[in-house]
Amino acid sequence: MTTPVRITVTGAAGQIGYALLFRLASGEVLGPDVPVRLGLLEIPAATRAAEGVAMELDDCAFPLLDGVDVFDDPRAAFDGTNLALLVGARPRGPGMERGDLLAANGAIFGPQGEAIGAGAADDVRVLVVGNPANTNALITAAHAPDVPRDRFTAMTRLDHNRALTQVARRADVPVGDVRRVTIWGNHSATQYPDVFHAEIAGRPAADVLHVPEDGAGWLTDDFVPTVAKRGAAIIEVRGGSSVASAANAALDHVHDWYRGTPEGDWTSAGVVSDGSYGVPEGLVSSFPVTARDGRFEIVQGLELNAFSRARLDASVAELAAERDTAASLALL
Ligand code: NAI
Repeated sequence: MTTPVRITVTGAAGQIGYALLFRLASGEVLGPDVPVRLGLLEIPAATRAAEGVAMELDDCAFPLLDGVDVFDDPRAAFDGTNLALLVGARPRGPGMERGDLLAANGAIFGPQGEAIGAGAADDVRVLVVGNPANTNALITAAHAPDVPRDRFTAMTRLDHNRALTQVARRADVPVGDVRRVTIWGNHSATQYPDVFHAEIAGRPAADVLHVPEDGAGWLTDDFVPTVAKRGAAIIEVRGGSSVASAANAALDHVHDWYRGTPEGDWTSAGVVSDGSYGVPEGLVSSFPVTARDGRFEIVQGLELNAFSRARLDASVAELAAERDTAASLALL
C-alpha cells in the first residue's frame, strides 16, 4: 500500500467534523487509490466524543482508511501531517467584541500554527474553516514562518457554491452551466460575490441576467445579500448552522487543491495575497483561483469595474482592521 496521506482535523467531534470525516475516509476526495490516516484533534473535554467518531469510522470498514488517532495535544496531532483542516474554533459568545473573539481564537490558532511549523510534513497544506476564517489563517501562518505562504488557505468555497446556485436559479439553468463566479475579500458579511466575469452556458452572466455595470437591481438588492447572509438564513430556517454544506465545501476545496480545477473554470479560496488586485500583500483574502499540481494560483488580469472595486476595497478594509486588531493583541 502507498504511504497514507496524514490528515489532521481539528474540532473533530464537532458538527462539521462529523460531516466531513467519513467522506475523507471514503476516498471520494483525494482519490480512489489514496489511503489516508486521520488524526482527530479535540479539546480534552471532547476527546471521548472524538473516540466515538473514531469507532464509527472503524465500523465503516473503509478500505482506504489506514487508521484513526485521537489527540488533545496539537504537537502530537500535527506531527507528520500532510493536510490540516482547522475546523475547531471559538464561536462569538454574547457580548463578545471582535477583539475578544480574535484573542480567543488566537489562543487556538497560534499554538496550532506553531505545531504545524514544528512538526508537519514538508508538503503540508492547511485549510482554515473555523471563523473568523481569514484572520485565523493569518494567525496560523504567522506562527509557522518556515512553511511557504501558499500552503495556508481559508475557506470561502461555501460562499462560492452558494453564489453558483443563486446565479443558476436566477437564469433558470442547471448549476453545472455556471462558471467563473468569484468570491472576493473576507468570509463575512462584507464579502463580494462577483458575477461580472461569470459565464452561463458560455455567455457572459451579466448579459444573460441583465446586470448593469453599476450593479443596480438584482445584483445589489438580492444576489449579494443573499449569498453573504445565507449562513444566517440557514440558522433561521433549519434551526442550526450550515454543517453539511460547510463540510461539503471544505471537501470541494481540498479536492480541487489536490486534483486541480476544471479546465476553463476557477474557484474561490482565501489565500495569502501577493498584492494582486491591490489587496495588501500578506492579508488572507478570497480571490478567484485555479489549482494545478497541488498549488492554487490567483487568476490574473480580470478587469474590476468601479462597483466591484468599491466592494472589494470595503471587504479588504475589514480584513486589514482584523489584522491590525490581531497585531495589537500580539497574535501575529
Ligand atoms: P461545533 O461547535 O459543532 O464544533 C467545534 C468543535 O471544535 C467542538 O467539538 C470543540 O470542542 C472543538 N474545538 C474547540 N477548540 C478547539 C481546539 N483548540 N482544538 C481542537 N478542537 C477544538 O462547530 P461546527 O458547526 O463544527 O463549526 C466549526 C467552525 O466552522 C465554526 O467556527 C464555524 O463558524 C465555522 N464555519 C465556517 C464556515 C466557512 O464558510 N468558513 C461555514 C460554516 C461554519
